[in-house]
Amino acid sequence: MSEVSDRQALLDAARAAALTAYAPYSGFHVGAAFRFDDGTIVTGSNFENASYGLAICAETAAAIVANLQGRRTGLVEVAIIGGPLGADGQLALTAAPVTPCGRCRQVMNELAQLGGTDPIVYSGHADGYLEHRLSVLLPAAFGPANLS
Ligand code: THU
Repeated sequence: MSEVSDRQALLDAARAAALTAYAPYSGFHVGAAFRFDDGTIVTGSNFENASYGLAICAETAAAIVANLQGRRTGLVEVAIIGGPLGADGQLALTAAPVTPCGRCRQVMNELAQLGGTDPIVYSGHADGYLEHRLSVLLPAAFGPANLS
C-alpha cells in the first residue's frame, strides 16, 4: 500500500471506531486508531460516564486495547477523528481538528517512550487533518525513562 492509502486506512479506522463511541452527554463521538510498526491497527472510542468528568477518551481506550494485545512498543502513527452524529447516523466532522487532550498526549507518550518511537499524530477535521509529531504536541515529556 502507498503511504497515502495507508494514512487514509488509518483515518478510516478512526472514523469507524468513532461510531462505537458511547457519548450521550457530550454528543461528541471520537475514534482513535493506532498503527504499530508491524502494520497492525488498534482502535478505541470515547466512553463517557454519568459522572461527566470520568469520561475515557478514545486515545486512552486505544492504548488500553493495545496493552491487552501485548503491544507496548512500535507505535508509529495515530489518527483521531471526532464530531457529532448527523441525522444519517454518520460522523459529522468538525471544522476544528480533534487534537488529543493533554491527558491522552501523556498516555500515548508512555507507549512512545517504551518503544523509542515518536509517532505522527493525524488530527482529523472536516477538510482533512493536521499532522504533528507527538514530541511536538508534548515537548519535554515525562515518561518511563525519567524514572531512572
Ligand atoms: N475526547 C476524546 O475522546 N479524545 C480527545 O482527545 C478529546 C476529547 C472526548 C472526551 C469526551 O467524551 C468528548 O470527547 C468531549 O470532550
